[in-house]
Amino acid sequence: MKTKPSFGSRFGTIAAVGGSVVGLGNIWRFPYLTGENGGAAFILIYLSVSFLIAVPTMIAEFSIGRHAMRNPMRSFKKLAPNTGWIYLGFAGVLTGLMIITFYSVLGGWAVEFLRFSYLDAFKGKSAPEVAAFFTAFTQNGWTVALYSGIFVLATFAIVATGVEKGIERFNKVLMPLLVIILLALVFYSTTLSGFKDGIRFLLKPDFSKVGFSTVLAAAGQAFFSMSLGMGAMITYGNYIRKKDNLKKVAGTVAVVDFSIALLAGFVVFPAVFSFGIEPQSGPKLVFITLPNLFQQMPGGYWLSIAFFILLILAAVTSSISLFEVIARYIQEEFRQTRMRASIITGGMVLAASTVCALSMVDHSSIRIFGENIFDLFDYLTTTFMMPLGALFTVLFVAWFWKGKGFEEEVTNRGHINHRFFVMLRFVLRYLVPLVLGALFIDLLLF
Ligand code: TRP
Repeated sequence: MKTKPSFGSRFGTIAAVGGSVVGLGNIWRFPYLTGENGGAAFILIYLSVSFLIAVPTMIAEFSIGRHAMRNPMRSFKKLAPNTGWIYLGFAGVLTGLMIITFYSVLGGWAVEFLRFSYLDAFKGKSAPEVAAFFTAFTQNGWTVALYSGIFVLATFAIVATGVEKGIERFNKVLMPLLVIILLALVFYSTTLSGFKDGIRFLLKPDFSKVGFSTVLAAAGQAFFSMSLGMGAMITYGNYIRKKDNLKKVAGTVAVVDFSIALLAGFVVFPAVFSFGIEPQSGPKLVFITLPNLFQQMPGGYWLSIAFFILLILAAVTSSISLFEVIARYIQEEFRQTRMRASIITGGMVLAASTVCALSMVDHSSIRIFGENIFDLFDYLTTTFMMPLGALFTVLFVAWFWKGKGFEEEVTNRGHINHRFFVMLRFVLRYLVPLVLGALFIDLLLF
C-alpha cells in the first residue's frame, strides 16, 4: 500500500498550514470587521480569542487528524464507532461548501481587480469614484460569475493533480513573498496624511462599543482565519509528522496569522483615513481602499499587480484546503477517483458560486431571508457553523474521545512534558465550551 503523504519539514508544515490559514480572512475580512467593530478593542479581543480559544482548538483538530489518519468523517467514525459524532464530519463538509461558495466569488473579485490593475483602470479616479466603480462592477453578475469560475478552475486544477508536494513547495516561496509585499505597503502607508488616525484607530481601544456580539464576531473571525471548525485542520493533521510538536505548529501559525492580519490593517486604515473612506464599509472595504493607495504611490502600478497576484495566490492556497475536504469526502464515500471527485466538487462549487454572484445584483430575485447568498453564507458560517463545529470538536476531544489518543498526540507519546497537556485539556474541557456556550446563549436570546 502507498504510504500516507506527509509534509517534509517543520518549515514546510508551517508553510502549508500557513497557506490554508492565511488568506482572504486576513487581508479582506479582518480589516473590514475591525472597521465595523470599532478598531483596537476588537483587535485585543481577537488576539485573546485567537490564543486562548483558537490555538487549543487547532491542537485538538490536529490531534484527531494525526491520530486517526483519515478524512474528518472517517476520523470520527474510527475514534468513536457507532455514534452520532460522524454527523459532525458531515456538518463540516456542508460548512466547507458554503464557505467556498462565497470565497470563490471573492477570489473572482481579486482576479478581476488584477485585470483592472493591469489595465490601470483606476487611474485618475477619486475615492468616491473608485467606490462607485466597485458597486457598478458587482452589478455585472455574469461577469463576476465568470471570474469566480476562473478562480474555481485554478483551485480545481491544483487539487485534481494532487496537492501534497505541490501545496508545500508552493507555499514555502509564496508566504514569505506575501509578507515582503505587505511590509512594503505598510512602509508606504507611513507617509500618508491619515497615518496617525489610522494607527490611533488600530491601537487605541474604545471599549464602550464592545459587547457579547463583538466577542462572537471575534470568535467567528478567529475560527475563519485559522481554518477551524469544519475539519480542514483534521485533514492537514494527517500530514503532520509524528515527531513534530503540535502546540508549536499551532502557536507559530497563530502568530503568523495574526501578524499578517494586523499588517493588512496597517495598510488599510491609514489609507481609509487619508482618502475619507468609511471604516464601516463592510466587505468591500479592501477593494475600495487599496486602489486609491496604489494610485498615489510611486511604483503603484506594479505593486498593485503584484499585490493582487499574491492576494489571488493566498486565496487559492486557502481555497484548496476547503475544496480538498469536500473532494476527499466524495472520493472516499462514493468511491470515486480523485479526478472524478474533483470534477464533481468543481461542478458544485461552480454552480453555487454562480448563483452567489448573481444574487449580489441589486433587485436580484435570488434572496434567502431577504439576504443575498454572499452575506448570508458569510454570516451563517462564521457566526454559527464554525463556532458550533469548533465547540463540538472540542467537546469530543476533551470529554468523549476514549483512550489515550489525545494525550499521545499532544505529548508525542510522552516525549513532551505532560504539564502542557493537563493545561490544554482543562482549557478544552471548561474554558472553550463555557465561552462559546455563553456566546451562543447570548446570540439566541438577545
Ligand atoms: N483561513 C482561510 C482565510 O483566512 C479561509 C479558510 C480556508 C477556511 N480553509 C478554511 C476557513 C477552512 C474555515 C475553514 O482566508
